[in-house]
Amino acid sequence: MSDPSTLKEWIVFSASALEGIVSEPRHEAELLLRAFYNKDALWLIRNEMTVLDDTQRLRQWITRRAANEPLEYISQRVSFYSQEFFIQQGALIPRPETELLIEKTLLHVNPDEHLCIVEVGIGSGIISIILAQHLPHAHFIGVDISTEALRIAQRNIECFGLKERIELRHGNLLSSVNEPIDVVVSNPPYIADTAVLESNLSYEPDTALFGGSQGDEIIKALLDEVLQRRVALLTCEMGYDQKAAIEAYLSDFKIQSLEFYKDYSGFDRGFIMKVTDEQTQ
Ligand SMILES: C[S@@+](CC[C@H](N)C(=O)[O-])C[C@H]1O[C@@H](n2cnc3c(N)ncnc32)[C@H](O)[C@@H]1O
Repeated sequence: MSDPSTLKEWIVFSASALEGIVSEPRHEAELLLRAFYNKDALWLIRNEMTVLDDTQRLRQWITRRAANEPLEYISQRVSFYSQEFFIQQGALIPRPETELLIEKTLLHVNPDEHLCIVEVGIGSGIISIILAQHLPHAHFIGVDISTEALRIAQRNIECFGLKERIELRHGNLLSSVNEPIDVVVSNPPYIADTAVLESNLSYEPDTALFGGSQGDEIIKALLDEVLQRRVALLTCEMGYDQKAAIEAYLSDFKIQSLEFYKDYSGFDRGFIMKVTDEQTQ
């Protein structure tokens, strides 16, 4: 094939480069072209015969995508909760099911209260940013063990004008937070260390994915700290097969309530734990 020139030819060229790498090469090629020029789907239809420019950089994007690098890392943009965020290797690409964690959290907090909300494992910052938009009186502390993730969160927090409301701290779980906490929200790493993952996941940080030999060790360590500090509310994402283990773990403790929720595919995906003021067992 001669060098592609028009948009239509570039789509065909990109799709053939992605053949055998992604499940829908043509669709992925269109997404790549749209992301590269920051255009919508209509632009693709209207501009089929347009001769493209900046194609040297476009070739680099295609090469990276053909190595199965996620488009979000290449474009440095990710859409979540109908908003656009900055993303880069070093922080997890937000997943659609995490929107449910936000919805569940919002159902259990009072927007009029001046709460101290701690997010454990803030990553790119998406959860705290959306919650801060909905909870105007709450103060947030975003903790992460990864300094790279914290840099990415900081960029998003500044971009959304929330620097005064979301404080960032480097640390393990709640160790860097000494003040009283009203709510902990977390999407912790919960995949078992030995799990064999799809190749595109290799671009995401191990610290964001792997939660210990069973996968639920970080969740259990977080439960310990939340119970010890008697934080009134914990909302937490988890693996689809971790409900029984979490229930069994919590059966040794005195809690007020424990409710699990499912994701869009019907898999168990998270829980909401309420803790009374009384001493845990
Ligand atoms: C699954 S990612 C979630 C990122 C972001 N909150 C989201 O939902 O897209 C988990 C995050 O927890 C962080 N993390 C892992 N272990 C941690 C620990 N022990 N203490 C604090 N953060 C931790 C990782 O660096 C990563 O940013």
